Amino acid sequence: MPVITLSNRSYPVNKDKRLLDSLLENGEKIPFSCRSGICHACLLKADRGQPPVNSQTHLSRERVREGYFLACQCLPEQDMTVSLPTREHTQAIITAKHLISPTVVSLELAARHPMDYFPGQHVRIDTGLELTKECYLASVPSQDRSMVIHVQRKVADPFSIWAHDSTAVGQKVSISSPRGLNLCGNLLDTPDQILIAQEGSLAPLLAYARSRVHATSNPQALKIHLFQEASSSHDHYCLDLLTALAESDHFDFTLTTGRQDYTSWLEKQINSTSPVRVICAGDTQFSNPIHHYCSKKTHIECIVLSAEFS
Ligand code: FES
Repeated sequence: MPVITLSNRSYPVNKDKRLLDSLLENGEKIPFSCRSGICHACLLKADRGQPPVNSQTHLSRERVREGYFLACQCLPEQDMTVSLPTREHTQAIITAKHLISPTVVSLELAARHPMDYFPGQHVRIDTGLELTKECYLASVPSQDRSMVIHVQRKVADPFSIWAHDSTAVGQKVSISSPRGLNLCGNLLDTPDQILIAQEGSLAPLLAYARSRVHATSNPQALKIHLFQEASSSHDHYCLDLLTALAESDHFDFTLTTGRQDYTSWLEKQINSTSPVRVICAGDTQFSNPIHHYCSKKTHIECIVLSAEFS
């Protein structure tokens, strides 16, 4: 059994069990979300020992060289001493606040020390009131001056109540360095793409679509179709941005109300075997059927951006 050491605590672990699960079972607080190698929330660093190649597949060359790997993709082969990567934090000021739907507020944040980030990534917001939350960024670094997050009001989520009711322009928060898959940098190009956002989860897909459409000039090179699901027609948001994007040949969108059967839609629409990328953003109940359907089709690459972070 390989022995994994984290913060001077050592655990013999099963070679056939994901390291993420072994560490969680031993009471270690390892952040995770998708468990499928997409969100990078479970990133660890091997300070001693070699992580398996499969656990580094989606990481940049620099990260691989530095020994980073994804715990959810790691079946440990040898003893390793691992650590949680430190995240830098910087202060930020809320520079704008807009209610963009009856339930979603948009906060614009100006960081004191500018941070590099990419579409698909998320930052941890620390309110200073013992309320923190990992939030996807809706902004695009090359197009927006501020970092933008969307927060959907949820009764059982104190962070969302804070974001809606207790924030004001000029207020300070702390933000961490970004994490998560760079959707524009780490993936192969696929012309046909379908983005599906559950209500409140549009942010990373919006950032991705804006960035890709802006960077693509050949109309044949990219066709994105985005679905935005909401509980009623009043709850759709960012329609101005989506409408502006739809003026390009690369993008169109559909607004849906109520839970839809996206797998039936995919079954009807995707009738060739040319590669298609599906990116869905939402909770597991929303994403699991889509992911399950896509996993049975070899020409569909499915990426799940989970709304649930541990
Ligand atoms: S939990 Fe490991 S990459 Fe998402």
